[in-house]
Amino acid sequence: MTNAANHNDRAAWLQGPSAKCSSLPQAKAEPWRLVLLGPPGVGKGTQAALLTQQLGACHLSTGDVFRAARTQRDKAPSPAMAAALEYMSRGELVPDEIVWAMVRERITCLRCNGGYVLDGFPRTLAQADSLRKLLETERLRLDAVVNYVVPAEEIIARLSGRRTCINCKAIFHVSSQPSKIVGVCDKCGGRLYQREDDHPQSISVRLQAYERSTAPLIEFYKIRGLLVTVTATGSPQEVFQRTLMALDGRRKGQAKGQNIPAAINV
Ligand code: AP5
Repeated sequence: MTNAANHNDRAAWLQGPSAKCSSLPQAKAEPWRLVLLGPPGVGKGTQAALLTQQLGACHLSTGDVFRAARTQRDKAPSPAMAAALEYMSRGELVPDEIVWAMVRERITCLRCNGGYVLDGFPRTLAQADSLRKLLETERLRLDAVVNYVVPAEEIIARLSGRRTCINCKAIFHVSSQPSKIVGVCDKCGGRLYQREDDHPQSISVRLQAYERSTAPLIEFYKIRGLLVTVTATGSPQEVFQRTLMALDGRRKGQAKGQNIPAAINV
């Protein structure tokens, strides 16, 4: 796998189709199209940043779109977006219709020849089915769905110490991944803040929503032969290396025309 550095600002994804990305990921003959699954705080955003850097794909996070709408100063959110932000601050899932309208509006990002890593979408069976139908119509194929797993107590520790950059959305942790200067992003100098849904009350609502609505996607993708399960304990780099190994094995197997097992565990 090549390291294709990606400096895209994701404007078309974060702000909507009227915005233009600063630089499009390089088109590839075989772009990577991945979905990351796993409970809140497992490290999907952290891994998405590493994966997109390595694979040259774009990081498409639905949570980042909502957070970008909240911090946009020059434009009031639409009524649907304002409703979405209310759900989000309580830790509840945003209704499927609102999420799907938002993703559908950004279809050019799903068509991007540089590939993508979907993070936080799909999150319900209805969303997964809508995505499946759309990709089928567009003749686009998902390469894999990476399901990250860690013990529950680790999740709470990760979420309560997380800090996020208000500008570039880079992710830090007060003890496991601290920024060089407290409260300042290493990448762009932006202010680091604690997400409002990382407070204890919202964390427990989010974990329940995950178990009820998102965990069933593991079976959905397993029976479609797309699931790759990765243990997400250890450092972010260790988890990243495990992920690359699993994806590499999967693609090499596909190239040789081998039968890919219904689920890979690393
Ligand atoms: P979203 O932004 O998608 O949040 P999430 O899924 O809850 O995931 P998180 O961002 O909390 O965690 P993560 O797995 O990305 O972990 P991270 O890498 O940051 O969604 C937010 C909300 O938006 C939802 O609750 C919902 O309301 C709404 N929403 C979004 N999409 C939706 C959809 N499709 N449908 C309906 N509603 C939707 O890591 C966490 C921390 O751990 C960081 O501090 C990091 O530094 C640290 N860390 C990471 N890896 C490691 C490691 N290996 N070791 C130690 N620390 C680590």
